[in-house]
Amino acid sequence: MTTVQGTGTAALSVDGPILVAEHVTMRFGGLTAVDSVSFRVMPGEIVGLIGPNGAGKTTFFNCLTGLYLPTSGRVVFNGQVLPPKPRKVVQAGMARTFQNIRLFSNMTALENVMVGRYCRTSAGPFTSIIRGPKFRREERETRERAQQLLDFVGLGHTTDSLARNLPYGDQRRLEIARALATDPKLVLLDEPTAGMNPQETRQAEELIFKIRDQGLAVVVIEHDMRFIFNLCDRVLCLVQGKALIEGTPAEVQSDPRVIEAYIGTGPDDAAALESELEEGQPDA
Ligand SMILES: Nc1ncnc2c1ncn2[C@@H]1O[C@H](COP(=O)(O)OP(=O)(O)O)[C@@H](O)[C@H]1O
Ligand SMILES: [Mg+2]
Repeated sequence: MTTVQGTGTAALSVDGPILVAEHVTMRFGGLTAVDSVSFRVMPGEIVGLIGPNGAGKTTFFNCLTGLYLPTSGRVVFNGQVLPPKPRKVVQAGMARTFQNIRLFSNMTALENVMVGRYCRTSAGPFTSIIRGPKFRREERETRERAQQLLDFVGLGHTTDSLARNLPYGDQRRLEIARALATDPKLVLLDEPTAGMNPQETRQAEELIFKIRDQGLAVVVIEHDMRFIFNLCDRVLCLVQGKALIEGTPAEVQSDPRVIEAYIGTGPDDAAALESELEEGQPDA
């Protein structure tokens, strides 16, 4: 039993995981980027995915979201094995953002969010061409919902700004708004705070808590350990494609293998991680 809408009150209880990955393996030629990773996410849970560069985090996301068909293993979302088709996966209720921001740079912020909404509208090409009353009503609703989502992520003032003119941190939040526009049950965020300053990172953390409080589950890849350990209910650490450890932030934080794994990737990463861990428990 898991409580969702994590505001402290048991608003809704749901049985069973929203996402189950069973022994997911992804090979590229001779390279096994993801090696038999099993993983589950409960509704309303925030799960962190960490690991040094090249550990297979993004590839694992790509397997979960239908961008790749795993070489072996399977992914069950909301009780259903999904076809490896990103559009079908989005319609089923899984949405994601990308490590390298993928916005329509010459469209406005509002239009970018509206694009996310179109997987939920029924107007087909024919209704769009004749622009009948149904099309106009849906278009108005789509616009209103998109504006609500801009407000929700703190970008209510950017409606008519071109995406490419937004500061970097705002572009990342805009991508999240577009993902939310698809009405997901689960959002997967690939390095949502990359390139953000500490204040923006703090805002991103608050935003992810707010998303969870709407009843959504969140899986987040991040290198910023303070961010991950503050935010997540559970953390999975991948190393060379394999699951090294999965546990609560406290468990993962105190496991020497995690620091060791980062040491192999360069002194800077390991030193940064170690100093963050020494600064003690997360402050939330
Ligand atoms: N499309 C691909 N073709 C070949 N190799 C890939 C591809 N995508 C990722 N890889 C390799 O898989 C490994 C894991 O990459 P990735 O999932 O991006 O790691 P992470 O996100 O943890 O940094 C790396 O060695 C990377 O070079
Ligand atoms: Mg990556």
